[in-house]
Amino acid sequence: MAEKVLVTGGAGYVGSVCVAGLITNGYQVLIYDNLSTGHKEAVVPGAELEIGDLANREHLGRVMRNFKPNFVMHFAASCLVGESFEKPLIYYRNNVANALNLVDVMLESGVRLLVFSSSCAVYGEPKRIPMEEDDPKQPINPYGKTKLAFEHLLEDCDRAYGLRSVSLRYFNAAGATQDLGEDHLPETHIIPNVLKVALGQASEVTVFGDDYPTRDGTCIRDFIHVSDLADAHERALDILRNDRSERLNLGNGEGFSVLEVIRTAEKVTHKRIPFRIGARRKGDPAVLVASAKKAKEVLGWQPAYDTLEKIIESAWNWHREHPNGYRS
Ligand SMILES: NC(=O)c1ccc[n+]([C@@H]2O[C@H](COP(=O)([O-])OP(=O)(O)OC[C@H]3O[C@@H](n4cnc5c(N)ncnc54)[C@H](O)[C@@H]3O)[C@@H](O)[C@H]2O)c1
Repeated sequence: MAEKVLVTGGAGYVGSVCVAGLITNGYQVLIYDNLSTGHKEAVVPGAELEIGDLANREHLGRVMRNFKPNFVMHFAASCLVGESFEKPLIYYRNNVANALNLVDVMLESGVRLLVFSSSCAVYGEPKRIPMEEDDPKQPINPYGKTKLAFEHLLEDCDRAYGLRSVSLRYFNAAGATQDLGEDHLPETHIIPNVLKVALGQASEVTVFGDDYPTRDGTCIRDFIHVSDLADAHERALDILRNDRSERLNLGNGEGFSVLEVIRTAEKVTHKRIPFRIGARRKGDPAVLVASAKKAKEVLGWQPAYDTLEKIIESAWNWHREHPNGYRS
């Protein structure tokens, strides 16, 4: 019989691609999503969608008891760094209190295996590059603090209740599959925003700060393809099957500046992409680059999209096919 996975946030960007992989590989999938930032159109055939909010503990409990999953993958969260400064309580409520509801109903139903979408934001300003899992964690924005708080909760629940979890700290998720791509409103991520200019939907892209201590003054990020993230999630299930918990970075191990992203996108799209320099954004570290050594060793994982060109090309194909995102 197929193993079952309950996926919170499975109608969102990263979650939908993971669900597609799970369905292809024969898992039975139930998505629990309130569609606040997700899209019904991103739910692949074969996956079931239960529209619901993690805040609704009773409904979530009923769904968990009826479905009886072998595993839970938890993607649902509030994810905008800037907004997390303005409205921190929304972030603590959704990313900590609502996530606690999830753990609570899992334990009530005897479900003990969880993969969690954590973030490189748990580290704050890195002490060294590339960043390793045991490096200091001093998040510099409320979003990162809520992700770290939930990691702490998971560690305590591991010791107290035997809840096994794999916290996957993604760096910058990017790219698309043929059918599934990035459609956030507002869009704060650099690659889709650059591609909107290439599509003629915006006249220029804003570069937030050019006075960082980096090679060209703009922030440096590590981009990891969403399909490679999906692959790592499935591999993480093996850690849980072996009754273990882990915390792993998921990145390519190479950093690209915002200006390098723009230049690469110009090359891929054959369009000129005008930009203007704006003020720094609050809560943006200068450089974030993963050491993915541990993930490669522990998961036997190797990102297939190992160049920025390949990642941007996949995103460009999707955005050209879906110029208005899932609304088209
Ligand atoms: N995209 C990235 O670069 C990145 C990087 C690091 C970590 N992450 C983490 O990965 C996860 C997925 O990110 P994404 O970019 O796919 O975001 P997304 O906004 O596209 O997906 C989140 C999904 O969760 C759902 N959701 C949110 N709150 C909910 C609630 N209370 N109840 C039910 N459903 C709810 C939304 O409707 C959406 O479908 C998040 O936890 C995010 O913090 C993302």
